[in-house]
Amino acid sequence: MKKLFRVLGFTLAGLIFLAACAATFVSVRGIPKYAMPKPTMAAIAYTPARVTQGEKLVNSMCADCHLDRKTRMLSGRRLDDLPPEFGTLYAANITQDPTHGIGRWTDAELVGLLRTGIGRDGRFRIVMPSFVHMSDEDVHSVIAYLRSSAAPVQPNATPSHPQEPSFLSKALVNTVMKPTPLPTRPVVAPSPTDAVAYGRYLVVGRYKCYDCHSHDFKTNNSLEPEKSEGYLAGGTKLLTPTGQEIIAPNLTSDPETGLGNWTETQFVQAVRYGQSPHGPLQMPMPKFTLMDEGEAKAIFAYLRTVPTIKNATPGDGAVAAR
Ligand code: HEC
Ligand code: HEC
Repeated sequence: MKKLFRVLGFTLAGLIFLAACAATFVSVRGIPKYAMPKPTMAAIAYTPARVTQGEKLVNSMCADCHLDRKTRMLSGRRLDDLPPEFGTLYAANITQDPTHGIGRWTDAELVGLLRTGIGRDGRFRIVMPSFVHMSDEDVHSVIAYLRSSAAPVQPNATPSHPQEPSFLSKALVNTVMKPTPLPTRPVVAPSPTDAVAYGRYLVVGRYKCYDCHSHDFKTNNSLEPEKSEGYLAGGTKLLTPTGQEIIAPNLTSDPETGLGNWTETQFVQAVRYGQSPHGPLQMPMPKFTLMDEGEAKAIFAYLRTVPTIKNATPGDGAVAAR
């Protein structure tokens, strides 16, 4: 019996030692580095059509994080809508400044980062979404806009703020949150005439609605979005501009907790203008004002085909109370 206790004691001490080693490893290693991805691609033509499309995409998809609201430039900001469990994180300066922005990045390096999350220095960029399912055409349009003469991307010498990730963030990027691989073949968006397929593309590839509208950032699956826990059924905790917790609601068709009773017109209003049947939608829900009506309708058609999940979020109570 005594011997058994001794063995158990040693085992326990061993386990505590291993856990301490793992914790030290995570703290010391911090944010991991990887080999820089090398996409093979032809030079991107910065056509006026791409700059226009890129302006729409960047304003819908990147500006909420990268825009300094005081200067109206994409020179970065503190991400105060992330729950504090992730630490204090800052979106980088992505203006054309050669030192503090992306002026010296090549197009291939930008493609590499958007697809995989790995920067030109090999450091894995955290919180920056993976645009692995965005079409090549959309990615090229984003880059054409970043290179354009538009005011928000002109060189701005604000240094990007170093990240202050929490232990949880460091642990996540050393375990479950990994870079996504470069696509191995061309990524082409489905035709808008196939509303459901096009809607899926908009939700997982272009606008990444599922990033916020699934169960939790920690269990999202960038490579196979539908495998994210509680796909599109809400639950992710965010903060409003005044620091109040807000939970992204359920977008599946459950009639009580989701959008089952919404009409297409109500949905289009909510997404494009931030006006839901129960009042104005707060940030961090983006206002997709540049999204066209056809896109919003396609997203609605796709959401109707997503497996329905019952998942109440606090907002549902507010709806009932009104
Ligand atoms: C959820 C917020 C968020 C969104 C949305 C977002 N980014 Fe970022 N981005 C970040 C953060 C945070 C970093 C810095 C990460 C780090 O240093 O670990 C970053 C880094 C970058 C960098 C690397 C810059 C550098 O010097 O390291 C580029 C380029 C970039 N983002 C471009 C984009 C583009 C283009 C879009 C839209 C298609 C976009 N981002 C959307 C948060 C975001
Ligand atoms: C940055 C995170 C984020 C992204 C990205 C995002 N949403 Fe939201 N969304 C939210 C939050 C938070 C709310 C709750 C706002 C409120 O209640 O005031 C919300 C609310 C909504 C609502 C209202 C639902 C209800 O029950 O009231 C709809 C509809 C919606 N979002 C659709 C979308 C679509 C479609 C996309 C992609 C095109 C999208 N959202 C992208 C965070 C996000």
